[in-house]
Amino acid sequence: MSPGAQAVVDAGGAELTRIMDRVERRMAELATSHGPVLARHAGETISAGGKRLRPLLVCLAAGAPPPETDGLVRAAVAVELVHGATLVHDDVLDGSALRRGRPTVVSTAGRGAATATGDLLFSRAFAELAGGDSPDAVRTLARASRELALGELTQREDAWRTDVSVARYLTRCRLKTAVLFRAACELGALEAGGEPDLLGAFGERIGLAFQILDDVLDVSGPPERTGKPRGADLLDGTVTLPLILACAEDPELATLDLRTVRSAEDAAATCDRIAATGVLDVARARARTLVADAKHGLPAMPERQRAALGLAADVMVERFA
Ligand code: IPE
Ligand code: IPE
Ligand code: MG
Ligand code: MG
Repeated sequence: MSPGAQAVVDAGGAELTRIMDRVERRMAELATSHGPVLARHAGETISAGGKRLRPLLVCLAAGAPPPETDGLVRAAVAVELVHGATLVHDDVLDGSALRRGRPTVVSTAGRGAATATGDLLFSRAFAELAGGDSPDAVRTLARASRELALGELTQREDAWRTDVSVARYLTRCRLKTAVLFRAACELGALEAGGEPDLLGAFGERIGLAFQILDDVLDVSGPPERTGKPRGADLLDGTVTLPLILACAEDPELATLDLRTVRSAEDAAATCDRIAATGVLDVARARARTLVADAKHGLPAMPERQRAALGLAADVMVERFA
């Protein structure tokens, strides 16, 4: 777990640590009980770590300390499994070789096995939620999953197009990333009898900031920090905020045919050119504003919970540093 995520866990107290331990154990159990081949890929996807930001949000949206209920563990597990599923599928769509510094399922086992691994993780997520007694929780995660798929499809539709608008880019980020942060917060609020809409709005804003930052990091690197090479988005034709903004500043970038960016060296050179326009700071500022708005819009809640959620929001900003 990253130092930032660890600070968030600490803010939730011993209860949060215990819940997160239960979440880890349950995910390992679920991932490894479906035949040896899928167990290997799904198990590796789960055990390869990750920041566990979404389960943390589920818990903190329920309270600080969170209530140690089976329903909360189920919701946190389900959200992280959906996240894992989308990553495995995303790496198929993006043709990515590395994830969390390790070879992706698609690069080691091929497209078929990666598709099935993602499907398995999706199915386990919904089975987990269905084991509880909240149809609202199932509906919430189902809506997010539908939107995630739409987001990935929008990204494919927009591939290689440098004329894509900022508004369309933001819609895509909302769909492919922010809705799962929203769902995480909604599920926590549902479990604790809180306010799903307001907490969901908080989740959506920090999720959007998170994706903007991820797109900045793709340009800025360094690879040792991100676990993937610079310019990976350029190489798979994904046009993100830094490039959209840079095209308005640098006429040569505006006329660049992205399909001519083919090697890691081409990608790194294009990243340098984007960074030279100064737009990375503009994008970072946009994400910071979203985080500030998210905190500002939180509903009335105990001070400890507000502080813990605020810290979680700051962890998103930490990625800009
Ligand atoms: C990666 O999400 C995918 C994006 C939405 C950018 P995370 O950075 O939360 O992934 P892990 O789980 O910590 O690896
Ligand atoms: C986020 O998009 C992926 C999902 C929401 C599944 P990216 O394609 O930018 O994520 P990374 O960079 O591969 O982690
Ligand atoms: Mg990707
Ligand atoms: Mg990315």
